[in-house]
Amino acid sequence: MTLSPATGPLLYEGKAKRVYATDQDDLVAVEYKDDATAFNALKKAQLLGKGALNCRISALLFEHLERLGVPTHYLGLQGDHWMMVRPVRVVPVEVVVRNVAAGSLCRQMPIPAGTPLDPPLLDLYYKDDALGDPLLSEARLERLQLLTPDQLGAIRELAFRVNDALRDLFARVELELVDFKIELGFTADGALVVADEISPDTCRLWNRAVSDAQERILDKDRFRQDLGGVVEAYGEVLKRVQGVCPEARVYG
Ligand code: TMP
Repeated sequence: MTLSPATGPLLYEGKAKRVYATDQDDLVAVEYKDDATAFNALKKAQLLGKGALNCRISALLFEHLERLGVPTHYLGLQGDHWMMVRPVRVVPVEVVVRNVAAGSLCRQMPIPAGTPLDPPLLDLYYKDDALGDPLLSEARLERLQLLTPDQLGAIRELAFRVNDALRDLFARVELELVDFKIELGFTADGALVVADEISPDTCRLWNRAVSDAQERILDKDRFRQDLGGVVEAYGEVLKRVQGVCPEARVYG
């Protein structure tokens, strides 16, 4: 069990993480929980080890993005399920990039699952659990005045840069990046950075060597679809990513 690096109060508790203050204004501690939820928390479970796996996978992916010049909130790991990050004002928009049709896209549109999407599709959702994270249109986004046109342009560009970086990295370890969700935030100095987490909870990843539509799934769809082997699948993702990334740094 790791000693908690949180030296201040709980600032925010989400479905999979807790964010704590520290004794420094420019530093917060993020605890990755073993809780798994799906369908806006209608389905819940505790998956032992998931938090530590997602923490480590996110760290490796944030560091990979950083090496490619994509700014993130990440500073370093602290024990097995804690990460130190810069505090950000989170933009209440979930940014989804889709390379292959799956999930809600196939439920809402006449696009068969597995259809390659070239160019990739960018979908923005309004981050509000009570409203069920509804799909945004540009007009709705403008009406809500959440972002300036320049900020929206910067988010689009960042989302596609993240997609290029992650798709290439996963391809090197025989994983197909089907789609993913990222969250973005503004730091105290106004920089737009990738925040939250990037893990099998927030990405769809298929094992390229396997053709069976269920067996190939190595992400949270195993939990959503009751396929079992969730933690084992996340472990496989970590093992592969570790094979092509330097060890994640420890904060401090
Ligand atoms: P979707 O197909 O359900 O819209 O999901 C698209 C991607 O976003 C998929 O990789 C899973 C991820 N996602 C989250 O990270 N959080 C969520 O709440 C939802 C609905 C999806």
